[in-house]
Amino acid sequence: MRKKVDFLVIGSGIAGLSYALTVAKHGKVIVVSKSIADETSTKYAQGGIAAVMYSPDSFEKHVQDTLIAGAGLCNEEVVRSVVSEGRERIEELIKWGADFDKQQDGSFSLGREGGHSENRILHHKDSTGKEIIRALLRKVKANPNIELLEGYFALDLITQHHLGELITRRSDDIQCFGVYILNPKTKRIDTILSKITMIASGGIGNAYRTTTNPVVATGDGISMAYRAKALVENMEFIQFHPTSLYNPGEKPSFLITEALRGFGGILRNQKGESFMAKYDERMELAPRDIVTRAIDTEMKYHGISYVYLDCRHLDKEELIQEFPGIFAKCLSIGIDIRKDMIPVVPAAHYVCGGITVDNNSQSSIRHLYASGECTYTGLHGANRLASNSLLEAVVFSHRAAEDSIRRLNGISWNNAVPDWNDQGMVLNEEMILITQTMRELQNIMNSYVSIVRSDLRLNRALNRLNLLYSETEELYKKSILNKELCELRNLINVSYLIVKMALNRKESVGLHYSTDYPQREGWQTIHLSEH
Ligand code: FAD
Ligand code: SIN
Repeated sequence: MRKKVDFLVIGSGIAGLSYALTVAKHGKVIVVSKSIADETSTKYAQGGIAAVMYSPDSFEKHVQDTLIAGAGLCNEEVVRSVVSEGRERIEELIKWGADFDKQQDGSFSLGREGGHSENRILHHKDSTGKEIIRALLRKVKANPNIELLEGYFALDLITQHHLGELITRRSDDIQCFGVYILNPKTKRIDTILSKITMIASGGIGNAYRTTTNPVVATGDGISMAYRAKALVENMEFIQFHPTSLYNPGEKPSFLITEALRGFGGILRNQKGESFMAKYDERMELAPRDIVTRAIDTEMKYHGISYVYLDCRHLDKEELIQEFPGIFAKCLSIGIDIRKDMIPVVPAAHYVCGGITVDNNSQSSIRHLYASGECTYTGLHGANRLASNSLLEAVVFSHRAAEDSIRRLNGISWNNAVPDWNDQGMVLNEEMILITQTMRELQNIMNSYVSIVRSDLRLNRALNRLNLLYSETEELYKKSILNKELCELRNLINVSYLIVKMALNRKESVGLHYSTDYPQREGWQTIHLSEH
């Protein structure tokens, strides 16, 4: 099947849907989602979205908090512009129907998370993402200019390469003409020609064995863009969330929001000792990389598999009222957070790098935009400040939409694009080869490319990845394609990028902590006392 559309959006999370709603006033839009539309990382966001709303908070404080968390690698200009656009985008989300909690006087109830010097997190109880995606999807489904294709898997971007031209990463005029999509009904590969394409495909959490990310987070967009020779940066900065629920066997790991530490939760080791004061004077509310390394150190030092988050001293009614999702989840496995400490462990959570985009969210490929977790915008630097990612997604999707609208009339479809050639793809491989390789990959990443790294471990990972890469490419060339094989291939690709970029960074900074290199001058973990 062949289709033509003005705007093609890959992904139905906050980045994709907010972009679609804005551009739909100017043309026909297709949004593809490889699962049911609301199965996104966005849906699982708990803490909320950061924005400066009232004094004593100020743009300057939010800027400084973001720069400090980013450990010297943020683009300050980007940080300033994103922070100052926050309130406008929140107003737009509200206009689209999202509901954020308010206090009795009608002002927004603002939570606090690690690295923030003020309460500035707008939230909807502890299920902010679910509320946002509900509101956006409702709007999208009611919009006659938007077609939502659920269960369709975007396979590859279409560029001059598919017209037989030789393009290299240095080519300065690569163009995107659309996307090849795996159609779940026909099992064939459709061609969608688009004037403008937006990648909003989310993160890469499933490169790791333990992650807070839903199964859709397999780095497809980043991998697709890299194959098309787009610029991709900062992939070494993988954020591990300090506190996912320790519940062996559960996948994805259930998040215990940082807002619970903002509310007064205390981290304790298995002796019941509060330990964060040993690591950072900001204690439980230090930036995430620091809290995660502190927990990792405690676990290694004491030979334990988890630490505890203690909420027993907090006001019990307020606790349940503010965190009903966490209360219910913990209770379902026999933990009453009013009386019991919550066992928690770090889990892969967020990728700070991705497809390089400019201030208008345009990638290095013409007519190709990207927004959300799959991008590198310069906002997060070496470590993302909590709740800045939903903010980044709405700000950059809005800019991308405005820029796309400006350019639309000057772009036409490229009718010379051929359909997908599936000749020679005859194997219908056993799933076991795919699932087993996936397990191997996730174990490699967890063991060697995790919170604490070294060149030895990274090189081990690289050697093993090379083998998985060649075996999987072999399979890919011969197989009738399915989603699982393509996801595996994409995860191997993004893992390779993480490892290569980690090996290239000859310093410890933010989320990239290597035992071989000192911490970046001026950005050592502050106030770290002797252990
Ligand atoms: P997603 O919301 O992940 O959407 C990706 C979309 O792309 C999905 O629809 C998926 O199906 C689609 N897709 C992917 N590949 C393909 C393909 N090949 N073909 C077709 N479709 C494809 N951030 C905050 O700021 N505040 C928080 O409180 C917060 N809490 C979080 C809690 C959890 C448990 C998690 C996992 C993340 C949290 N984050 C939070 C991070 C934040 O939720 C994500 O970074 C953000 O939602 C990403 O949005 P997105 O639109 O870029 O991608
Ligand atoms: C959380 O609620 O702790 C997650 C917030 C985030 O990832 O920004």
